[in-house]
Parts: sequence; C-alpha cells; structure tokens
Amino acid sequence: MEKPKFKTVQEVVAAGEGLPDRYLQAPTGDDNGIPLNASIPEMDIPAIDLSLLLSASEDGREELNKLHLALSTWGVVQVMNHGITKAFLDKIYKLTKEFCALPSEEKQKYARDIGSIQGYGNDMILWDDQVLDWIDRLYITTYPEDQRQLKFWPQVPTGFRETLHEYTMKQHLVIKQVFKAMARSLELEENCFLDMCGANATMDTRFNMYPPCPRPDKVIGVKPHADKSAFTLLLPDKNVEGLQFLKDGKWYKAPIVSADTILINVGDQMEIMSNGIYKSPVHRVVTNREKERISVATFFIPGADKEIQPVNGLVSEARPRLYKPVKNYVKLLNNYYLQGLRPIAASLI
Ligand code: SIN
Ligand code: FE2
Repeated sequence: MEKPKFKTVQEVVAAGEGLPDRYLQAPTGDDNGIPLNASIPEMDIPAIDLSLLLSASEDGREELNKLHLALSTWGVVQVMNHGITKAFLDKIYKLTKEFCALPSEEKQKYARDIGSIQGYGNDMILWDDQVLDWIDRLYITTYPEDQRQLKFWPQVPTGFRETLHEYTMKQHLVIKQVFKAMARSLELEENCFLDMCGANATMDTRFNMYPPCPRPDKVIGVKPHADKSAFTLLLPDKNVEGLQFLKDGKWYKAPIVSADTILINVGDQMEIMSNGIYKSPVHRVVTNREKERISVATFFIPGADKEIQPVNGLVSEARPRLYKPVKNYVKLLNNYYLQGLRPIAASLI
C-alpha cells in the first residue's frame, strides 16, 4: 500500500524549516481575526456519578436530571465512578506519551495507508487547499475484535496492545451503562438506543498528539467539528488546556478535569436518535506554545447496517421529527465538511 507523502507535525518541527503556510488559518476565519489563543471564559461541565445513575434511589433520579441538563445544554458531561480506575487511566496516558516520544521511523511502522483513516499520521487531507490541523494521531478500530487490524496496533511501548484491548473492554461496559442512563433520563425504555445502534456497532480510539506550536494565535490543533459518533469518551490532557466548546455562538474552554474522570460528549448520531434533545456540540482544540498536549478519544459508532433516526418516544405532535433516517452516517457524510457544512445538516428534515 502506498503511504501518505505529507510529514507529520513532529517531522515538520524536526526539519527546522519554519512553519509551513499550510498550517496558517486565513486571517478572516470563523473568528473574524480574533487570535485563536485569546483568553475566553471557562465552561462549567457538570459531573455525574455513573454508579448512581442506574440506581432506583432518590439520588439516582437526581443524577439522571443532572445528566439530562448537561446533555441538553452543553452536550458534554464529566463522568466519575465509571468503574475504570485512576491507575488504569494513568497507564493509558503514560503509554500514549511513550508512543508519542518514539522516533519517527518507529511510529511510521504504523502509518496510515492513503485514503484510510486507520493508523498513524498527520491530519487527514480531504481537499486541496485544506488548512492543516497541528496534530499527529494514531487511529485504531478496537471493537469488535474481529474488525481489528493488528498491523496498526503498536508493539512498542511494551504493553500498549494489551492495555488498549483491556481499555476497550472496560469502555464498552461504560458505554452500555451510559446509553441506558441516557434512555432513562429521557424516560425511555433503557435499551432503546443500544438496540438502534445494533449488534454491528464499532468502537474507534484516536490517540491525539499536539506538539508545542510556534504560532498558537494562528494555528489550530483540531478545527471546529462535531463528532459523528453516537457519543465519544474523551480523556483530555490532565495538565494542558486546549479543548473548547461552542455555545450560542461563543467559545468556552473546557476545564482540566481530574485524573479519574472521563468526559463524554454527545455525537451527531445521538443528537439524531434523541430528536435534537441532546446536543452534539461543535468543539475545537487550540495549540500551546510551550507544552505538548495529549488526549485519547473513543468513538462509539452505530452499526453501518442500522437506520439511525429519532426514537419513537421522542417524536410527538408537540415535538415533530427533526431528522430523516440515516445509514452509515460516518462514511456517507465525510465530504460535507468540504462544503463547510456540518454533516448533520444533511439529515435535517
Ligand atoms: C477532538 O475532539 O477531536 C479532540 C479532543 C481533544 O484533544 O481534547
Ligand atoms: Fe471531536
């Protein structure tokens, strides 16, 4: 297979040839010339105790209400007591940092093939004059096991493969619980979202590596987007800020969350299934002049064979259906970004 001819950000930095124009945002971008590293307010992301969410107690009901409020306003929630230990999450960070610090030749063993999303590489180039994001990433399909392509699973650092396998299985349990809690918070039968996503749902994990950037005012880590997943489990860097969410036309920075916490953000397919009640937030990542930033995102993606549409219980005369059924949403709508549109626009009625 042919390998991509573009350098990763780490290779660009190592070449010492200055900052290529391809990374510079146009002066009149979304923000009308406001520097990307301008100071902005911090958002308050509610924290939920997952162990309480599915209990029938009074506390459980209160927790479900908090979840409902968080997902219907910001589309983001912090989840604690999810059953994955802090020590295990620390291990994921440590291995990601170690992978990131490997020599380029070692990482290139897992390089993405042209036209494929899986593997190691720079920002995917989808159109000719695309401004590139200041990010290198390793993208791996982790679930179900028979969909894995082990050639993209790093053999160094030691333990990476085994830990990613274990992380996948642990996350899968969390995902099932979160889906049930989401259903209950909307007063629906608890398996309705899981059933709609079907038996062929998949999980992909993306290890994001943002090297220090000489122009944080003009270079973006990840351009504004909404996730095409049902929802995303995110381990943002525990020390370095960068993630920001758009709400009512304004950017807010996500706080640094504690090391035992997972951030969950709604993706487009959950927004569709919830008939627009749960919001798939537009978010971006800005760069940092001094510090490297690392994050690990896992996307839960409904089966490509399933029709995703608003669930019956959320469609009524008072709340008409907002979205058409969509199938294989992730694949179908990739080129929407080319037109500067959010993919979800295609499924609006
Ligand atoms: C993303 O949403 O694409 C990345 C999130 C992060 O790095 O925190
Ligand atoms: Fe994202």
